[in-house]
This record gives sequence, C-alpha cells and structure tokens, in this order.
Amino acid sequence: MVTLGTPLSPSATRVMLLGSGELAKEVLIALQRLGVETIAVDRYDHAPGHQVAHHQRTITMSDPAQLRGLVEAERPDVVVPEIEAIATQTLVELEAEGTRVVPTARAARLTMDREGIRRLAAETLGLPTSAYRFCDSLEELRAAAAEVGFPCVVKPVMSSSGKGQSKLDGPDDVAGAWEYAMAGGRVAGTRVIVEGFVDFDYEITLLTVRSLVGGEPVTSFCSPIGHRQESGDYVESWQPQPMSETALARAQDIAAAVTGDLGGLGLFGVELFVRGDDVWFSEVSPRPHDTGMVTMTTQWQNEFELHARALLGLPVDTSLRNPGASAVVYGGMDATGIAFDGVDEALALPGVDLRLFGKPESFPRRRMGVALARAEDVDTARAVATDAASRVRPRA
Ligand SMILES: Nc1ncnc2c1ncn2[C@@H]1O[C@H](COP(=O)(O)OP(=O)(O)O)[C@@H](O)[C@H]1O
Ligand SMILES: [Mg+2]
Repeated sequence: MVTLGTPLSPSATRVMLLGSGELAKEVLIALQRLGVETIAVDRYDHAPGHQVAHHQRTITMSDPAQLRGLVEAERPDVVVPEIEAIATQTLVELEAEGTRVVPTARAARLTMDREGIRRLAAETLGLPTSAYRFCDSLEELRAAAAEVGFPCVVKPVMSSSGKGQSKLDGPDDVAGAWEYAMAGGRVAGTRVIVEGFVDFDYEITLLTVRSLVGGEPVTSFCSPIGHRQESGDYVESWQPQPMSETALARAQDIAAAVTGDLGGLGLFGVELFVRGDDVWFSEVSPRPHDTGMVTMTTQWQNEFELHARALLGLPVDTSLRNPGASAVVYGGMDATGIAFDGVDEALALPGVDLRLFGKPESFPRRRMGVALARAEDVDTARAVATDAASRVRPRA
C-alpha cells in the first residue's frame, strides 16, 4: 500500500530533485499535484524547478560535502537525480546508509560516465552497440580511430548535450577532435570514447517505465519517439515514430534488458539507432528525457507524471492519446531576463501548446522553451510545432 502525506506537515512525503531545469520543473509539478512536499536543488538561484517547489536550495551538486550536507539536513524520503553532474559516489554512500535514490544510485553513477553504461550494455549485457574504444591520449585516439574506422564519433566520457563531441571523416580530423573533446568535457582532461558512426535510418527515444504492480516491478513502454539532433542537441521530436514490428520488438528487448539491470523504480529514456530491422543501443538516461517533452501533448500521462507515479510506487498508464511533436525555442542571445514576443501567434495555431521555462539567463543555444503540437498525424504535428516555435521571438 502506498500512503502519501500532507505537505508542510509531519505526515509529508518529501522528495528532493537534484537538478531543477525544465525537466525537473515538470516532475515537480507532477509531484505537487499528488500533494508531495518538494525540495528543488540547483547550482544557481531561480532555476525553473525552484519556481514551482516548496523549498529551493542552491548548492554545487558535484561537491560531495555539499551534497551530503544538504541530504542530511533535509532528510527527504526520496532523492531524484535530474542531471548527470552530481557527486554520484556520494549518492551510492547515502543509499547504503538508507536514503532512497531514484531509480538507484548505481544507475546514476553508471550513466554519468559513458564508459560505465557502454561497458554494461555491450560487455555485460551483450547488447548491440556501435564499435568503440576508450582513449586517454591523442596517440591512443589515433590508433583507436583507425581500428574503429571512419567515419567515427569522439565524445568526452563525462559530457552531455553534445558538448565536446565531433564526427571524424578521416585521420586528419583526429587532432582537432581530441582538442575539442578536452575543452568540452565536464571534467577537464579525462577520457574520450571513439565510436564507429552508425548510419541509421532514424533514431528514437524509447521511454521505459519500471513501476510496481502488486508489489512487483514491471516494465512498460511508451510509443517510440523520433527526434532530430543538431550539434548534439535535440531540435524537434515526434511521437509515434513508425517502426517495423521486428525493430520495435528488438528496441523493447534492449530497453528491458538495460533498465532491468539498472533496476529501481522510475522512467528511463533509452536512446536507440535503427536501420531497417536492426537496432543499436546508444545510451540511457535514468530519468525523463528532453526529447520526451513531446509526451506533454501526446500521452494521457506524460513522461514526468509517469516518473513521479512510478517512483512513488503508483500504477502508470503509458498509452498514447494522439500523435504530436515538439520543437525547441532557443534563447538566440546572451542576456538576462529576456522577453518573448509572439506567444499569442504561436498559441493561435491549431493544436498548439507552449512551455516557457523561466530561465533567468539566456544564451544563443540555450533551450528556453518548447512548442508542442498535436495533430491527426506526425508530419502535420511536426510542421505546426516548428512553425509555432519560430513565432516565439526572444528579445532582450
Ligand atoms: N556512434 C554514433 N553514430 C551516429 N550518430 C551518433 C553516434 N553517437 C552519437 N550520434 C549522434 O549524436 C547525438 C548525441 O550523441 P549522444 O551519445 O546521445 O550524446 P549526448 O549524451 O550528448 O546526448 C545522437 O543522438 C546521434 O544523433
Ligand atoms: Mg543522447
């Protein structure tokens, strides 16, 4: 039996989000709707999630002492990591001492580092992935790239959103890719992974939920989400992505294997490459996925509600309501406290909805909002969502 309390009272069910960006903001809203008391944590003040939580805290989450100090002071029932840049070893220790971490501290630790999750998927679980090598120097990278073959992709092992990532077409690109990776990693001067380039027909995020049914964890899948990436960042996504029956079955098998090993309760974003009936595992987030924002307009329960429900031990419904798409609204400039013109124009389009995240500071390529569109079919939804996003015009 699941019992939820009253927020701000001794019976409260208290959940702490580590990371308070746009994805955490929606998880927090979903938790608020169930009367959960929420603590939003980020590295800067007035982060999107801070604006919708009962309590706001600003710390450096990659600092073990600060993270431990906060968790010990707040004593939340559940800690929910929403970003990768966290002192995950501290999460492992806190979990061993009795703090619940979603889905598990091990999942957070393995997925913050491309090496951890890749070795688990390819070597332990035997799942199909691109060819890969890990390298600690330019010389090693030269040899590894030649072995893996061109084209290939180089990424810092500790990085996200395409940072420090480049595609290499031949040996002349190796030195530049090494420099770029060294500058772009989350932690200076660490390893890189070189991956064989997968010439996929399309790539998907398969949102996979582990939730309790009759006290036992069960795995359920959302309809596949297609997406388009530009310089490692998603620009539009849509659901459902049409797939062959075989490819979908393979994708679900891969997702079940990797999320089953990571364990715990919650939603995962499993990234897969597909060509014909072949499917490759790419990576997994043990939390809602940016491309999954489309579910705010396509599913009865969006990915944030699914995560909130699953982590609380509640039942979930992953079914699709209608086709739809999302398109990102970028900041387009370096400025604080920007304004958005054209919101009315965007919302006047058929089937359109919009989220503006409320980020205090804008950068040219910072995601400041997302346009959502539902339609009879995915192609229409994509066109409308992209149109809507373009009508929202940031200005200083
Ligand atoms: N081995 C690969 N072959 C082809 N495309 C790739 C490969 N690795 C990454 N990509 C492309 O780059 C995008 C970002 O790579 P990903 O590994 O997901 O990094 P991040 O952790 O920054 O999201 C992928 O969604 C895909 O479009
Ligand atoms: Mg990715």
